[in-house]
Amino acid sequence: MNYYYITGTSRGIGKAFADYLLDSPSNKVIGISRQRSIEHPNYRHFYLDLSDSIALAGFKFELHANAKKIYLINNAGTLGFIRPVGKLDASVIIKNYTLNLIAPSVLTNAFINCYDTVDAEKVIVNISSGAGKVPVDGWAVYCASKSGIDMFSRVVDVEQKIRAEHASKSVHKSFKIFSIAPGVVDTEMQSEIRKASKDDFSRLENFIEYKVNNQLSDPATVSRKYFDILNNTDRIKDVLSSIKDYD
Ligand SMILES: NC(=O)c1ccc[n+]([C@@H]2O[C@H](COP(=O)([O-])OP(=O)(O)OC[C@H]3O[C@@H](n4cnc5c(N)ncnc54)[C@H](OP(=O)(O)O)[C@@H]3O)[C@@H](O)[C@H]2O)c1
Repeated sequence: MNYYYITGTSRGIGKAFADYLLDSPSNKVIGISRQRSIEHPNYRHFYLDLSDSIALAGFKFELHANAKKIYLINNAGTLGFIRPVGKLDASVIIKNYTLNLIAPSVLTNAFINCYDTVDAEKVIVNISSGAGKVPVDGWAVYCASKSGIDMFSRVVDVEQKIRAEHASKSVHKSFKIFSIAPGVVDTEMQSEIRKASKDDFSRLENFIEYKVNNQLSDPATVSRKYFDILNNTDRIKDVLSSIKDYD
């Protein structure tokens, strides 16, 4: 049996991941978000606000005796208010970093700690963004948190490779980690972007045009592309990539 822990399964890309995986009876999905939209015999849901640091720190992974694969997909994320720095609310900055950067870090730490001695294929996938590589006005916290999750992933990758080099001392399989950007996808996040004020976001027209010109990818297609890649992780050469790199 394969076990997939996925944050943000109530809608968008995370829901598309869960729907895709639940088509196979060999997969169990454990979803984490504030709302639930999936009912399936192989689906379990944890209602958790990942921007609440105390609730987040209390989350526990479970041991699965018969696991062939165990995945953590850190997908939940938000842009928060699209405004320049100086016009942001302090509590929103704190919550958004907690959801976008602290939650994936805390969950990855707990995941590695829990499954360290388990001999399954163990993979962490962070859903990153091109916004972690180039500055976008109005998105400072989002850009910084996606950039942070990219570097966090690179450090974990280095640590796991060091561990693999000392494999003689450790009989257990090391973890793989990837930070993969999905491109521009037709989800609620994109409809929130189109509601931004032109005064607070210079690229508003571009994002309206992406929708008008049908340039947004469908979440189900994006999900299939992720698993085409993840079903053969040896194809993935770098910790950081975009699904467009595999077209
Ligand atoms: N869409 C794009 O064009 C695009 C581009 C690049 C990267 N991404 C990345 O892709 C990922 C998914 O985005 P999406 O477009 O699918 O967004 P979305 O449609 O807005 O879905 C976001 C998901 O995150 C969950 N979430 C939000 N706040 C949460 C909280 N406080 N606690 C727990 N879960 C929370 C939501 O569930 P609840 O509201 O039920 O909690 C929802 O399931 C994000 O990391 C995003 O940065 C998206």
